[in-house]
Amino acid sequence: FRTIIEPFRIHSVEPLRMTTRAEREVAVAKAGYNLFQVDAQDVLIDLLTDSGTGAMSRDQWAAIQRGDESYAGSPSYFRFRDAVRALFPFEHVIPTHQGRAAEKIIFGVLGGPGKLVPNNTHFDTTRANVEFTGAEAVDLVIAEGRDPRSQHPFKGNMDVEALQALLAERADDVPVVFMTITNNSGGGQPVSLANLRAVREVCDRYGKLLFLDACRFAENAWFIHEREDGQAGREVADIVHDIASLADGMTMSAKKDPMGNIGGWLAMNDDELASQCRSLLILTEGFPTYGGLAGRDLEALAQGLTEAVDHDYLRYRITSTAYLGDALQRVGMPILSPTGGHAVYLDARALLPHIDPLHYPGQALAIALYEAGGVRSCEIGTVMFGRRPDGSEVPAPLDLVRLAIPRRTYTQSHIDYVIEVCEQVVAAAGDLRGYRIIDEPPALRHFTATFEPL
Ligand code: F0G
Repeated sequence: FRTIIEPFRIHSVEPLRMTTRAEREVAVAKAGYNLFQVDAQDVLIDLLTDSGTGAMSRDQWAAIQRGDESYAGSPSYFRFRDAVRALFPFEHVIPTHQGRAAEKIIFGVLGGPGKLVPNNTHFDTTRANVEFTGAEAVDLVIAEGRDPRSQHPFKGNMDVEALQALLAERADDVPVVFMTITNNSGGGQPVSLANLRAVREVCDRYGKLLFLDACRFAENAWFIHEREDGQAGREVADIVHDIASLADGMTMSAKKDPMGNIGGWLAMNDDELASQCRSLLILTEGFPTYGGLAGRDLEALAQGLTEAVDHDYLRYRITSTAYLGDALQRVGMPILSPTGGHAVYLDARALLPHIDPLHYPGQALAIALYEAGGVRSCEIGTVMFGRRPDGSEVPAPLDLVRLAIPRRTYTQSHIDYVIEVCEQVVAAAGDLRGYRIIDEPPALRHFTATFEPL
């Protein structure tokens, strides 16, 4: 059959609040034209992020009842640890309350002034945590990964030659090499097994640790299953094993593929490194068998991990994201292609060539989608990246708007509605106007800045 159905039926429902265009225009003006400042109850379809916003399964809710809240040595921790190890067989598994807490700890140990961390592309919190220690964060994604139209099947791959060249020059300053799977900041694009093997070889040559930022590991493994030679007949769980076996450790946000509303972890093989990380964990997160989470959260994640690698789920997940991407291209919305795993990225600069990048075409498109249909998205462009530390502005390399798809949350008719909203906005694109910032904080301005239409 052509139709890939949702491989679940609905067990508990949440009402959506309908609003009129006039109500949304008032709400977004009151929010200073910043979608982070709009109340969630004024949003109809919330595509701001896929992080912590997915629906848990019946079996996850059942597992929550089994949560054991012992401070130390809870059986819920051991179930969580074993579920992580079933996919990522690392010696030490250290829970954290979310991904950035794991990043703060690992870079707290490995970072510092003069150090340099290569990554295919750092996610914003990863970059911020590297830089917070005084170290430098370097992105080395392949050239195709920076081209919104390149059809390369693994646009998240690391430029292995660039990594080799960097290590040849600065090996002593590099404490660890990171690979982000999938590459969120680069459009949710996957990394191939072959590329991970090549990166491993370079790391071995220089005696460097290789860590995964593995938030969307299952989606990445599905792309390997679909696109890489010789992988089609394999279990996704085995592909994940192969990925893990190439690394020395990982940071994780369990709010993505592990189907949690909260959670994360840090895992590694090295005993001494783990002991240093646990010491920092106790300072900020908690005792090493709960790390900022309740026992019930650990149970929900242990169950969620078994669901994340289910083939029917992953086929539906990746196909339904591509369904949105394909339909948007048909209605004339330029997008970053091929479509990634967790989101569709709209190319606002291509849709709105009449809006100067310094008047934020991504912001204009995101606000238009909200006003037209109550669809909340996220600008990833000059608002997010355009301000330099001295306060001056430069256009970001791309002005994108991300439609991130929460896991198992919206049905195909919700997505068909999003497509219609986009179609309406495309038809009126010539009338959209840019924005001006009237108030902004010195850093991370996209969360709180206020805007006015030009
Ligand atoms: N790494 C990647 C690749 C991410 O996408 C995120 C979060 C993190 C680390 C941090 O994890 O949020 O649990 O602290 N990404 C979310 C997003 C916020 O919307 O893309 P966290």
